[in-house]
Amino acid sequence: IETVVFENSSTASKAVAKEMADLIRVKQAQKQPCILGLATGSSPKSLYAELVRMHKEEGLSFRNVVSFNLDEYYPMEPDSVNSYVRFMKELLFNHVDILPENIHIPDGTLPKEEIANYCNQYEAKIKAVGGIDLQILGIGGNGHIGFNESGSLQNSKTRLVALDHITRVAASGDFGGLSNTPRTAITLGVKKIMEAKRVILMAWGERKAKIINASVEGPVTNQVPASFLQEHNNATFIIDQEASSKLT
Ligand code: F6R
Repeated sequence: IETVVFENSSTASKAVAKEMADLIRVKQAQKQPCILGLATGSSPKSLYAELVRMHKEEGLSFRNVVSFNLDEYYPMEPDSVNSYVRFMKELLFNHVDILPENIHIPDGTLPKEEIANYCNQYEAKIKAVGGIDLQILGIGGNGHIGFNESGSLQNSKTRLVALDHITRVAASGDFGGLSNTPRTAITLGVKKIMEAKRVILMAWGERKAKIINASVEGPVTNQVPASFLQEHNNATFIIDQEASSKLT
């Protein structure tokens, strides 16, 4: 695992956007689709803002991009203020030329009995396009990646999961209190994340320092799912100075 520390999240996000844009352009030149694994939450917001800027000012096209988001709350209506569908549209998709049919976000509206089959199909679609070229991740305070909470196995599949209390507390502000916060979510499994050809995990601020240290320098353990990335051959943690403050 490689760790790169930037002065602040703004310069760091620009570096991630540059790598992503370079990959999109290389694939364009090869007439290939570029398969992106995308995250929501606060960490990638500045990345998406930079990509929108590159589209508007530098002509970066997303017409060859096929995206798969990591997760969605369950249950969740796509037009709800807290849905990850809405998040992605408002921060990225509505502002670039990605084709709507190339966007994939787990469906929070399915009847429960259809979820397992749906998750298998989600993975099959990723496989059919050749796997994820670049996976963007944030990290939860408990070390979750996607919504693979502590205890998730390294070979876990895409599935419905129970959210940890700490994850729900972190989200409760958006939902107007813990009692309104979803208890479950659909997440891409650890296995598909580990199969991505390139993984970039982004983390900013002092509140992430402890879990960054545990993920990078601690044992590989399912108690800290981000620590699995130590076993990925092309994973980089891109963090700011504050998030790096507990690294030795
Ligand atoms: C979001 C996701 C989560 C977040 C994590 C960090 O799609 O998969 O794992 O990346 O909870 O969230 P922020 O960036 O808000 O600190």
